[in-house]
Amino acid sequence: MTKGVRVVFIKKKQLLPLTLLLLASSVEVQAGPRDQAKKLYSSLTGNTANKAIADKYEKMVKDGKIKAAAKEIVESNQGFYNVTLKNFFTPMSNEDGTQFAPLNDMTATLIGVTRDEIDFFRVFWDNILYQFDGQLITNSASGIPSKFDKYKATNDRLYLSKYDAAIPIYNRTKNNMYEEAEKMNISYSDTSALVQTQQNTYTTRNEAAIAGIFSTRGWAKAYYEAGTNRASFAYFAKNFLCLEMEELNDTTIPDFRVRRDVDRAPGGKTETYKTFCVGCHAGQDALGGAFVYYDFTSGAMRYAEHEDVDENGDIVSVGPVAPKINKNNMFPDGKITISDSWINLWNEGQNAYIGWGETTSGNGAKSLGKMFAETKQVRSCLAKQVFESVCYRTPSSEEDKRTVEVLAEEFDKDGNMKNLFINAALTCIGD
Ligand code: HEC
Repeated sequence: MTKGVRVVFIKKKQLLPLTLLLLASSVEVQAGPRDQAKKLYSSLTGNTANKAIADKYEKMVKDGKIKAAAKEIVESNQGFYNVTLKNFFTPMSNEDGTQFAPLNDMTATLIGVTRDEIDFFRVFWDNILYQFDGQLITNSASGIPSKFDKYKATNDRLYLSKYDAAIPIYNRTKNNMYEEAEKMNISYSDTSALVQTQQNTYTTRNEAAIAGIFSTRGWAKAYYEAGTNRASFAYFAKNFLCLEMEELNDTTIPDFRVRRDVDRAPGGKTETYKTFCVGCHAGQDALGGAFVYYDFTSGAMRYAEHEDVDENGDIVSVGPVAPKINKNNMFPDGKITISDSWINLWNEGQNAYIGWGETTSGNGAKSLGKMFAETKQVRSCLAKQVFESVCYRTPSSEEDKRTVEVLAEEFDKDGNMKNLFINAALTCIGD
């Protein structure tokens, strides 16, 4: 976003305060304060404003308190958390990209970080987890309705009096805490019900595994189950860089990190490897080294302690690298993975524009996640998606694209996902 662009906007809308919020696109049809209030309400909460609500926010809009109105709508409506944010983050938690998947520890964490206005970029590396909290139902617990007595012996349920609900404690092998909380319609806006904790002892017992969403059970189930964990980078790229692997394909990158399972002459043709396969694998196998200690088996994420079993069922080795990583050998001279080192080879060439974080190599998902957290394209990609979520259109016009740039710039400064939603909603309610 250049200063020049701002000047254009200011000239056009001289009567409006010089804030990002009022860089409303001129392609919007003229909307009166009541329509604006209603639009603001529905875009942020997923609900339709009734008369009382429309009256209230229309008055605020007329009084020039439009940002305060947006903030109040977000703060006081479960819909923003249980509908808007849930639908926004859920497609990132599964390969199908569907909204129709249950809440899990990854999506709950993204919602919690947004709600509590925590620096959003920490979600790619830090020791953060959101869980539901309540009173543990035990034999000695008091004040719990007798219908929940059946849970007393198992010590694995939490009582949430406000919701008259008993939900399971966090389980590393199941998503039941999150699924049941969602079914009981527990409000994710409720700071006593959905609380910030840390990942240790919950998602993993190994400190070295902790890397923001990359070490949640939700991410592990989606992207470390079967396969070779390459999905972890591919879906990071899709969801947080807004790039498909095809767009990253660069056949000029040296291939010393391409693993042994990639055939160097598919169908007998080395040309195919050189003009196609290498374009993704040179870069992604180099970055994906960060994820090779993870696996997802028997319902749980595993990290760095893997038993490789031969065809007789005998354990042949125990090591940090998940056995599946080196299992297929199509090309013996290809990269054998023995550590979780990663290198960013896409810092140069056609993918340099992404504005990757400065660190170009490291070990493990935490350091890779820190590099991702600094990456410019993560800001513009999230700004674009938030714009789409609250404005119901792809930013394809020049004006919309500029708006997204301004939103991304603001998001870069404050790292505040809640503000990003508010700012985006305000830019597209018309004026
Ligand atoms: C557009 C990018 C791209 C190109 C081009 C590409 N791959 Fe891949 N490849 C991927 C991604 C992404 C994965 C991980 C898929 C997943 O696990 O969901 C993958 C996975 C693989 C795997 C591991 C499969 C497994 O079981 O996990 C092999 C082997 C492989 N590719 C070989 C090749 C070969 C050979 C070519 C050329 C014919 C090729 N790839 C071309 C992106 C690409």
